[in-house]
Amino acid sequence: MNAVEVVGEDLPVFALHTRSGSYVFTVTDTGLVRQLHWGGRISAADVMVEPLWALSTNDLIEDITAQEYPAHGGFRYNEQCLMVRWPDGGRESVLRYHGYAVDGDSLTISLRDDKGLDVDLHYEVVAGGEVIKRWTTITAGCTVVLETVASAQFHIPFTDLELRNVSGHWGAEQQELVQTVSSKTVLESRRGISNHHHNPYAVLSLDATETTGRVWAAALAFSGNTKVVVEQTQYASTLLQLGINDFDSEIVLDPGESFTTPAVVCAYTDQGFDAISQHLHAYGRSLMRPGPRPVLYNSWEATNFEVTAAGQIELARRAARLGAELFVVDDGWFGRRNPDATGGIHDGLGDWWVDPVKFPEGLGPLIDEVQRLGMDFGIWVEPEMVNPESDLFAANPDWIYREPGRAPDEARGQYVLNLNLPDVRRFVLDSVDTLLTDNDIAYVKWDANRPMSQVGAGRDVWHGHIRALYDIVAELRRRHPDVLFEACASGGGRIDLGALSVFDDFWTSDNTDALDRLEIQRAYSLVYPPQAMRAWVTDVPNFLSQRSIPLQFRFHSAMLGTLGIGCDLTKFGEAELEQAAGLVAQYRQLRPRMVEFHRLENPSPNDYRLFQYCGPEGAVLYAFLPSSRLGHKPTTVRLRGLEPHARYRFTHDWQQREASGEYLMNRGLRLWLQGDYASSIITFDKVTEDPE
Ligand code: DGJ
Repeated sequence: MNAVEVVGEDLPVFALHTRSGSYVFTVTDTGLVRQLHWGGRISAADVMVEPLWALSTNDLIEDITAQEYPAHGGFRYNEQCLMVRWPDGGRESVLRYHGYAVDGDSLTISLRDDKGLDVDLHYEVVAGGEVIKRWTTITAGCTVVLETVASAQFHIPFTDLELRNVSGHWGAEQQELVQTVSSKTVLESRRGISNHHHNPYAVLSLDATETTGRVWAAALAFSGNTKVVVEQTQYASTLLQLGINDFDSEIVLDPGESFTTPAVVCAYTDQGFDAISQHLHAYGRSLMRPGPRPVLYNSWEATNFEVTAAGQIELARRAARLGAELFVVDDGWFGRRNPDATGGIHDGLGDWWVDPVKFPEGLGPLIDEVQRLGMDFGIWVEPEMVNPESDLFAANPDWIYREPGRAPDEARGQYVLNLNLPDVRRFVLDSVDTLLTDNDIAYVKWDANRPMSQVGAGRDVWHGHIRALYDIVAELRRRHPDVLFEACASGGGRIDLGALSVFDDFWTSDNTDALDRLEIQRAYSLVYPPQAMRAWVTDVPNFLSQRSIPLQFRFHSAMLGTLGIGCDLTKFGEAELEQAAGLVAQYRQLRPRMVEFHRLENPSPNDYRLFQYCGPEGAVLYAFLPSSRLGHKPTTVRLRGLEPHARYRFTHDWQQREASGEYLMNRGLRLWLQGDYASSIITFDKVTEDPE
């Protein structure tokens, strides 16, 4: 069956088919676009369209019909995708079906309001056929203000669904949030970044485990103010809406102007959370530039702001011995970036010149040495920010967001630059462009260490900032196609599919405690591909948890993502350097098979954490036991994603063994770790057939 199916002419039934499901809607005789199905596969040709019904004069057809893109007005009381202010002060929109177009795996549904608005609903089956991408374009026929303009709405014909998202804060991002939906829940960002508190997606499920049960997922590709609404309706269904947040938002369109919403990607499976993650990871990976991300060394936890040419060279020599492929100088290399006596920092941001005290000969000698050692060079920047004592702020005090008649908000001693101003956009683009042109830089860590505030009244300010950010990074990538860009916002404040469209990977959290990271990384992996998840090994006791976890466990935990090292290597003895070098070498050797990521179930009462990757060459199991208890109970590991009839060679219980994929997936292996902070890796090599 084609990805897009259309049956009928006057009131067509439309179906979008993924390999695991179908998404079906039709047009009513009053011109409403009415959703009929989101679940397992069905054919549009089989659909029996039930007549619309009003339950009572208080539950009218317009209100209870599951619409694809409901607009404000009339008897529509549910969450609306669109709320418009017309030039005459009117607020009601009456969207009617106006035709469709199919182009390969894409479908566009046109809606029109004769008062002066065209709305195009776009659908595309992407990522190898398991994900549908939706977005909406609004075109004005007269000057209108879009007060609400969501990307998409969905209706799931079940109740009592379980909702999964994350909650948290700085240092504790991506804490799994699970709740049963019984009324309305809003997960949002009002901070101008996709933020540490929640994430712009919803995963809804019915009696699901990792490997069984129905799961519906939708994620918004946007890094600013977002809003996800989940509501159990009174009519045996659950509504899901995603879009830019209508909080403090006004988007003005003049006649002929269009606004395109960020995209939402959605997927369905009846095979549980593992399958939904595979679909979403495949989509995430499809946004990423090819090739593995390099093993990096980052200086932040080792030196903080106290970077010097000599100190960085010393670290670089040791990082190279470990087998790092990239050396990144973090904060502190530019302007007059030095903490005051209280540790506060008020200078540097905005002055993107190399500090002549810390680097008397510029960055050249450090970059040369890093390259001589066989590594690429990377650098930290925070281009959307400015410090009050910088030259930039002295020259341009009106470049920041601020409220008239109020003192500007300071957080971490810094202000946010107003990227809505063309001069500011030009400055940010030019400063990073100059840095990349003047120096041989292969990697940029792009940070943003405070939320936006005091953006004032104006057209499209919150949203405009993020669109400007995307444009700047996209232009930098165009001008410097070999440079990789890492998205960081005070840790994991910018993890979303919008960021992944222009950045190459994410800094996941400033919490680098290897045990906390297992939880953070597990929740992260529900939606986002681990290949974009930066994870560092850092010193103990960890600065945040004060926990001292053995080096092997720290490495194994970080090897689940894209490996980085953030230790003060000058404090490493020979034995530690050697152990670390062995683990980096192992990671680099395993990297080609780290494609599909699985969270494995643990049937033991002991607290094993089991994760697995598989790729064309075989699989790798990562097993962790934070603390042994209950008489050192073993667990059983059942692998996933193997070829059932292929054979795999591995070492287990100190013996070389071989087993079929189906054996390893169905019966599995007994695994027994003992002690505290125990961890182990088992590699499974696919045995290639002897050609003879
Ligand atoms: C916050 C980031 O998350 C850290 O990794 C580090 O880059 C600091 N900012 C530097 O100021």
